Amino acid sequence: MSGTVDLVIFGASGDLSRRKILPSLTHLAARNGSALRVIGAGRSHPSQQEFRDLVNESSGSPELAATAEWVQINYRDPASFAPVKAMLDGTSSAIFYLATPPETFSDILGAVGQSGMAIKGDQSRRIVVEKPLGHDLASARKLNAQLAATFDEEQIFRIDHYLAKDTVQNVLALRFSNSLFEPVWNRNLVESILITAAEEEGIGLRAGYYDRIGAVRDMIQNHVLQLLALVTMEPPITFDADYIRRAKRLALRSMSPLDPSSAVRGQYEGYLDEEGVSPDSRRETYAAARVSIENWRWDGVPIYVRSGKALKRRATEVVIKLRDAPMLRVGGRRQRGIPTLIVIRIQPDEGITLRIGAKRPGVRFEMVPAGMKLDYARLTRQALPDAYENVLSEVLAGGHSAFPGGEEIELSWEIVDPLIKAWEADGHPEPYPVGSWGPQAADDLVGSGGAGRWIVSGDEPGTA
Ligand code: BG6
Repeated sequence: MSGTVDLVIFGASGDLSRRKILPSLTHLAARNGSALRVIGAGRSHPSQQEFRDLVNESSGSPELAATAEWVQINYRDPASFAPVKAMLDGTSSAIFYLATPPETFSDILGAVGQSGMAIKGDQSRRIVVEKPLGHDLASARKLNAQLAATFDEEQIFRIDHYLAKDTVQNVLALRFSNSLFEPVWNRNLVESILITAAEEEGIGLRAGYYDRIGAVRDMIQNHVLQLLALVTMEPPITFDADYIRRAKRLALRSMSPLDPSSAVRGQYEGYLDEEGVSPDSRRETYAAARVSIENWRWDGVPIYVRSGKALKRRATEVVIKLRDAPMLRVGGRRQRGIPTLIVIRIQPDEGITLRIGAKRPGVRFEMVPAGMKLDYARLTRQALPDAYENVLSEVLAGGHSAFPGGEEIELSWEIVDPLIKAWEADGHPEPYPVGSWGPQAADDLVGSGGAGRWIVSGDEPGTA
């Protein structure tokens, strides 16, 4: 998109817009060589000046603030969208950004479509949708159908901000731009795969959202499965979005629906006292599950994922554990085995560590765990770009590699739906202490499934 681009943010005075979208706009316009005009639309009624102040404060850009406009809308009333349409008349490019609760999506999409603000197939009109992209498979299908009524797939950008993290994209570079890794990346040499997406913070003030959603919908269905798809997919023909999406689709299609008997749910102690949480809530703030991938590459490999709130520390990591080398004796003494680990640290301390066994310096031949480390931030002198900046930059450029396609979303729901249904129907999450790594049962799950134990770098020798 070039020239002036109108960015219509529905829900522009909300939290997402203030904390993520508006701040990411500052560098964006300059980076893409296009000018942006923000049109905020929502139920509240700030004056134009109040909205401009908000834009200024959140984005830090007086230029952006100076042209920002606000339109008050009643989502239920398509006629109230008329001023937005009037502002867009004659504009060359427009992006519609849904930063509103999901119950409004249908009304907004209907109004945007009916008013003619967007036309199916017209690339100068694009739509950005934020999660939750559905609540289950049925609602995800409905949303996809609603989107498809007004927009072609090429015009639709579904945000999964994990895909916009540089370190997540770097999984592709690691796997497919280095001939070292791909030959071992399969059931012959990989013993297990573990993915952790741990957060130190609790739910904060988000009970209204989180207590209806839980860890599986909030993190596993989207971020974690997308990451797992990138880690386990077949090589794409090229790095173009179409081929990457195709490869991810096939990976997701090979994953079996999550089996409640190979999954553990937890709830942090004190969750029920959080403001806005229902006092008898059975909502999980932690989930761990085995994922079975039935294809030639991964059949039989234990793959476990976990995600939770109020855990020991923030850490999102993929750990690929390779099979042990044959054990050596030195001078008749057994050497302890040191499994090779490939640790991909998505955040924080972004990087990759290859944990190997090395000879301890000195006269004796003794093995010690040692790390060969890529510190991702050192690859550049600039700060790593924010995920939202990447997201919007891709939307402007019309690239889709940081966005899951509609079918991927449905496939992910197919994988998690049985687990969510089983948990909602019955039973309770296991309480776990704030600041721990979650319920004990999740350790047992991994132990009994042949993957040893959960690994997070720093706690594991050679990965610090
Ligand atoms: C969001 C979830 O999608 O991702 C939040 O709704 C979660 O609950 C967040 O905290 C984590 O994102 P990040 O980038 O901080 O790991």
